[in-house]
Amino acid sequence: MRKDVRILLVGEPKVGKTSLIMSLVSEEFPDEVPLRAEEITIPADVTPERVPTHIVDYSGKHIDTMTDKNKSIYSVNNKKSIEKVRMDSVCVVVPLILVGNKSDLVEHSSMETILPIMNQFQDIETCVECSAKNLKNISELFYYAQKAVLHPTGPLYCPEEKE
Ligand code: GTP
Ligand code: MG
Repeated sequence: MRKDVRILLVGEPKVGKTSLIMSLVSEEFPDEVPLRAEEITIPADVTPERVPTHIVDYSGKHIDTMTDKNKSIYSVNNKKSIEKVRMDSVCVVVPLILVGNKSDLVEHSSMETILPIMNQFQDIETCVECSAKNLKNISELFYYAQKAVLHPTGPLYCPEEKE
C-alpha cells in the first residue's frame, strides 16, 4: 500500500494551474490567485482512495527550467497551449493526466485535437476537460490523478531516448 500520492500541476503559463488548486480547496473560483499556490496536503480520510495526497503547483517559470516538455495542462481556448502538449523524448516515469481547463470559455470540446496525442503516449492515463471557474470536473480531475498513481492501467516505462 502506498504511503502517499503527489500530484504535480504542470503546464503553459496562465492556463489556470493555480486557479484549479484554489478552486479545489475553497470550492469557489478565486478572482485573484498568487503566481504559485503553497503545497497543500489533503488528509487521507477526505480523499476517495484514503491516501494522503500532496498537491504541488508549478508556475510557468519553474517548469521552463525544469522540464520544458512535460506540460500536461492546456486551456481549451488556447491552441498554442494544446500544441505544446508534447511529451516525446521525455523519460516519463509517472502517470500523466491531460487536463483541459477553462471549458467555460468554449462551446466546442478540444477532445478531437487531444485524443490523437493521448493515444500516442501510453503514459497518459486519461484526459479531462474542466473549469476552475464554474467548478466543473475539479474534484474529478484530482481523483483521476490519485487513481492514476494508485492503480495505473498502462505500463510505466522509460522510452528509448530519441534524438
Ligand atoms: P502561471 O502560474 O502564471 O503559469 O499561471 P497559472 O497556470 O497558474 O494560471 P492562473 O491560475 O494564474 O490563471 C490565469 C488566468 O486564467 C487568471 O486570470 C484566471 O482567473 C484565469 N482562469 C483560470 N481558470 C479559469 C477557468 O476555468 N475559466 C476561465 N474563464 N478563466 C480561468
Ligand atoms: Mg500559477
